[in-house]
Amino acid sequence: MNLEPESYSSQHIPLESVKCFLSETLPQLGWNRSSKEDVVLDVGCGPGGTTFQLVLPLFPGVKKIFAVDLVPAAIEFAKRHNSHQLIEYSVANFEDWSILSQWEGKITRLVSIYCFNWLKDQRNAFQNVFKLLKKGGEAAICFSTESSYYDAILKVQNDPKWSCFLKDIENLIPESHHKKYDSSYYKKMLETTGFEIIYCRNEVITEVTSSDKKYKDFFTSMCVLTPHVPSDLKEEFKHDFMEEFLRLNGRNDKGLPLFISKVIQLVIRKP
Ligand SMILES: C[S@@+](CC[C@H](N)C(=O)[O-])C[C@H]1O[C@@H](n2cnc3c(N)ncnc32)[C@H](O)[C@@H]1O
Repeated sequence: MNLEPESYSSQHIPLESVKCFLSETLPQLGWNRSSKEDVVLDVGCGPGGTTFQLVLPLFPGVKKIFAVDLVPAAIEFAKRHNSHQLIEYSVANFEDWSILSQWEGKITRLVSIYCFNWLKDQRNAFQNVFKLLKKGGEAAICFSTESSYYDAILKVQNDPKWSCFLKDIENLIPESHHKKYDSSYYKKMLETTGFEIIYCRNEVITEVTSSDKKYKDFFTSMCVLTPHVPSDLKEEFKHDFMEEFLRLNGRNDKGLPLFISKVIQLVIRKP
């Protein structure tokens, strides 16, 4: 996948539901009692804004917060703009066990925000989480299962104006979007993997963005199709993509752009 870190970070804390999950739900589930023995892993940390602003405050006195992402430019940005002595950023593909094995059985808390929807094999990713966690360790994972974002991707990918560049391009739309998986699907998968489910919530969320510019910057920054469009047409492509995206999402009564998505929030424990 691609990610434009500057545009993605144009909003400090991108989604209100993420803020609520990390700053309200997790403390209520005992995640505010960390110790200096804790080793935290943030999976798919992106440019590090969430890691620095929302994950770090949960774990003020831990041994280390490792934060990994697939995209080198995101990690470079995180090191430059969201650094802290407790956080160690590095490039890693969460689907590649050979890189992750260094942390096998060592992680006491794992966080992953809006990354699992990009993974090709979610079952394998949950198995990786299981292997990484220490006995009694917990993971807090949130990702979208269905989204207007994927509908907009499909629409532009199949639009005759753009399909000549985008035909057969891997669009990374998760299986959950096409097959409409709900919490029962994930509960079964997690229990089979060996997890105890502490919290599981699957709901439709509506997010408001404070300006059209931030909306465009944030949602085009991770559009997997853009790199396949010729440079001189990229702006026009982004415009068409956003027009479709906004058509699907609409605006609130103050005229601000909305984002509608079905999201699953999980807290799971390795017994
Ligand atoms: C929507 S961003 C979320 C970033 C951050 N967690 C946040 O809350 O702002 C999704 C991130 O997942 C990363 N990602 C996608 N596939 C990945 C993989 N296989 N391994 C590690 N990171 C991945 C992307 O590079 C991207 O930075």
